[in-house]
Parts: sequence; structure tokens; C-alpha cells
Amino acid sequence: MSETRAPGARAAPDIRVWDPLLRLSHWSFALLVPILWWTAENKVWAWHRRLGLVLLGILVFRILWGFVGTRTALFADFVKGPGTVLAYLRGALPGAATRIGHSPLAGWSTLALLAAMLVQVGMGLFAGDPFDGMTGPLNPLVGVMTADTLTEWHETFFYVVAGLAVLHLAAIVYYASFKGQDLVSPMLSGERPASEGVEGNGPMPWLRGLAAVAVAAGFAWWITLGAPPLT
Ligand code: HEM
Repeated sequence: MSETRAPGARAAPDIRVWDPLLRLSHWSFALLVPILWWTAENKVWAWHRRLGLVLLGILVFRILWGFVGTRTALFADFVKGPGTVLAYLRGALPGAATRIGHSPLAGWSTLALLAAMLVQVGMGLFAGDPFDGMTGPLNPLVGVMTADTLTEWHETFFYVVAGLAVLHLAAIVYYASFKGQDLVSPMLSGERPASEGVEGNGPMPWLRGLAAVAVAAGFAWWITLGAPPLT
């Protein structure tokens, strides 16, 4: 869509879509998933364990941010029922053109990606064999047979995570190629060009953001220590 502007008139400033902490967590997912796969394939276990725990911390942060973050980060903003998803797919969702953030379909893809990564990391915490190399920090809490099963599932479930990531990338390419929508630039810069009737995201609440980061990091650290009793 091209807009004509009066000579000398200024372009409206870009509007905020994604806050900095959401973008940082997103690009960390995009980097960590392939690196974790590589470290497992090449048996670089010390880094696999360390980075897996970093991924756990970032996932916990993203979940907290889904409740206390900026508008487009909130689960309440993008997790919608099947009726809304179907209306969106039929192009009959009122207000869809002036909405920012995840579409009702992308909302479910977001939940699926976060849940799959969480399940994968969760199984990794218990995985390994104490008599044969590296183990997850919670491995001592389960028996050898349970750990063995979880290790196998941890290996196989990676294909679910990878499959969802491939679908995710295919959707982004589809939107760019067939709908002319560049979703990647806002995920990089946090902003998109202004258009009529579209209200941007609110300002970044840094104090709340740092508190969420601190809680998530503290939780991941506690897990790293093997989840000792807190009393
Ligand atoms: C393993 C790799 C990846 C994973 C696990 C992943 C995961 C996710 C997740 C969980 C979200 C939701 C963001 C949130 O609300 O926190 C998301 C959104 C998004 N991702 Fe990725 N991502 C990956 C790779 C990529 C890559 C390589 C690109 C770009 C080339 C990309 C572009 C985007 C965009 C544009 C969105 C926003 C979609 C929308 O507008 O709703 N992602 N991704």
C-alpha cells in the first residue's frame, strides 16, 4: 500500500511492536536450539548442559513475561479460541488490520514452540547416565530406568522441536512471499511503520523486566544446584 504525503510533511514515526527483552529471548531461542543440537551431536556435553540451563532460564523468563510483560508479550493478548482463529483464517476477524503482535494463528504457534522447548529442556534435566558421562542436574532425583527412558525421549523429541521451528520459518517465508508482510524486521528492530488506526505497544517497564529476569535466573540457578530444599 503506498501513501501520498503532502510536500514537506513528515513521515509518522515508526510504532513499537516487540519490546527489547522479548526480542532478546526470541533471538536467544533461535541461536540456542541449533547450538544445543550441535553440542549433542558432537558430544560437547559440558556446553550442552550449560546452554540447556541458560535456555531453561530464558524460557522461564518468557513465561513470566507472558503475564507481566508489555501488551504484545502477554498470553492474554494472543492466545485466542478456535472461533477467533477460524475467523482470522477466513479473513473475517474484525479489527485484524489494525492489530499488532501475534495473529491468533501465530499465537498458537508461539505456545507450541515455547511448550515444546520447555518439555525438551525439562527432560534434559533428568537425562543421562551417572556411570557413563554427563547428566542433567536433576538426574539424581530419578531412578536409572526413568532417566534412561527420559534420555531416549529427549533425543527423539528434538525432532518435534525442529519440526515446529521449520514450520515457523515456513510461515514467515509464506507471509513475506504471498502476503507481502515483513515480520522479521519488527522482530529485529522492535518497530514497524505507522499506519492509520494502529496503536503501538506501550513503553518498556524496565524494572518489571529486570525483576522477571532475576526470578528466572534464580530459578535456573536453583535447578543447576539440583533443586536443593529451600529451608
Ligand atoms: C529454532 C529457531 C527458532 C525458534 C525456536 C523460534 C521461536 C519463536 C517463538 C517462541 C516466537 C514467539 C515470540 C514470543 O512471543 O516470545 C517466535 C516469533 C517469531 N519468530 Fe521465531 N524462532 C526461531 C527462529 C526464527 C528465525 C530464524 C526467524 C527469522 C528469520 C524468526 C522470526 C520470528 C518472527 C518474525 C516472529 C514473530 C511472528 C509474529 O509476527 O507473530 N524466528 N519465534
